[in-house]
Amino acid sequence: MRMLGRHMVSGLQRHASRTLAGTGVKNQTTLASPDLKVESLVPGEPSGPRMVTDSIPGPVSQSRLKDLNQIQPSQSIQLFLDYDRSLGNYIVDVDGNQLLDVYTQISSMPLGYNHPNLLKLLDDPSIVKAFINRPALGAFPGADWPERLSNSLMAVAPPGLKTITTMACGSCSNENAYKQIFMWYRSKQRGHDNFSQEELDSCMINQEPGSPQLSLLSFHGAFHGRTMGCLTTTHSKAIHKLDVPAMDWPIARFPLYKYPLEEHTRENQEEDRKCLEEVEDLIHQYNAKGMPVAGIVIEPIQAEGGDNHGSNEFFQQLQAIAKRNGAAFLIDEVQTGGGPTGKYWCHEHFDLPEAPDIVTFSKKMLTGGYYMKDEFRPSHGYRIYNTWMGEPSKIIVLEEVIKVVKRDNLLENTKNVGEILMQGIHALEDKYPQHINSTRGKGTFIAFNGKDPATRDKIVGNLKAAGIHSGGCGEQAVRLRPALIFQPHHAEIFLDKLETVLGQL
Ligand SMILES: Cc1ncc(COP(=O)(O)O)c(C=O)c1O
Repeated sequence: MRMLGRHMVSGLQRHASRTLAGTGVKNQTTLASPDLKVESLVPGEPSGPRMVTDSIPGPVSQSRLKDLNQIQPSQSIQLFLDYDRSLGNYIVDVDGNQLLDVYTQISSMPLGYNHPNLLKLLDDPSIVKAFINRPALGAFPGADWPERLSNSLMAVAPPGLKTITTMACGSCSNENAYKQIFMWYRSKQRGHDNFSQEELDSCMINQEPGSPQLSLLSFHGAFHGRTMGCLTTTHSKAIHKLDVPAMDWPIARFPLYKYPLEEHTRENQEEDRKCLEEVEDLIHQYNAKGMPVAGIVIEPIQAEGGDNHGSNEFFQQLQAIAKRNGAAFLIDEVQTGGGPTGKYWCHEHFDLPEAPDIVTFSKKMLTGGYYMKDEFRPSHGYRIYNTWMGEPSKIIVLEEVIKVVKRDNLLENTKNVGEILMQGIHALEDKYPQHINSTRGKGTFIAFNGKDPATRDKIVGNLKAAGIHSGGCGEQAVRLRPALIFQPHHAEIFLDKLETVLGQL
């Protein structure tokens, strides 16, 4: 039996305040730690969740939803938030409920809400001007753009990658990276960058040789975005893909491991072997049928698809297969990038013999884009282009985020607090094996499975009612995506609430 996380920090006590009779406001439940001095990385952060409505979403959220739905399809909306009052690791909704946020806008708030260093940026008038004058970056960047990029994205570039293209979001990063791969592949085939008249003419009517038959290999369970090209490589949920034409590109199995890993080494190695064999078979099949595989695209941890992990050996061998077959190796770090695994880039855990060819990012990096090996630079202007190509104000904010991550040692913090979470959830898995299993993670990028989809939904719903905002992914996983400022005392609050929820199932 592993030690319960709750016992690692003593003195946390649950306090229930009086019922506020007749107000529609139920017992206010807070976790406080009167005898424990916990220094929060964000001054003034609340000491715990505080729920004030009988159910969530509360009446104000529901009424806002009605208003919005009149003018915008709103089926996916969960809650309306008060971004003024949200702070650090806590969101406050429009009904006044205060929740510990371990989901952080689908993993995209590196320093949580209203971090003082980021607020301070707005005191500088030159920065305010960057917020209101949005340039067409591919044509008219400001004089400071090279330094801004060097101090932000390039300061944390994955080892071995020195060239970058910025974009606005995760999907358009992948979409353009895919194009980059096809251009690289064709340029290798040609042996030069001069296009024939036939190529120029035929691409205008979507015909070969200008519009070539090429493919990208992706994995079952993958999520790479919802734009047309990305959707062909996305396989996590049917609802994303339904009714949209897709290309006939190869899809291989991503390893699905048995947990705990240490008890299933042989089966999991066999799983790796089968999946890699399938990758190689598919490449040969598609090459033979005249649809050569120009690249392999993969998430280092399949996130939307259920937090599926691959071993270091799996990724090392996959990279070797790509190289052997002349295909580019793209790692999609949109969800894993920016520190949640305890390193800036999840693939840094894999000990790859060389850098991936392309690494895409967005979310915690605040801007989209991709790093690439120099050989992937496009040969001509406008081949990879759009009006905005990112947003300078986001780069200014990112520069400050990177400073704070360094100053407050947040990657180390994430690694340490991740260990507390893993140990605590493992202990709860031992205590409640009838409800949860398969705890897995790197840093605070952690998930565990509910016994079945209905149990997962119940856990996420009951956690929310108890003041913890978490998320689901895949068929039956609960996922944690806290900010990099998530500390041991936050982990304790989470584990305490999870234990209560599991105990009441
Ligand atoms: C791994 C991965 N790739 C791509 C995307 C798409 O990013 P966006 O939603 O910014 O288009 C996501 C979004 O969740 C993602 O998790």
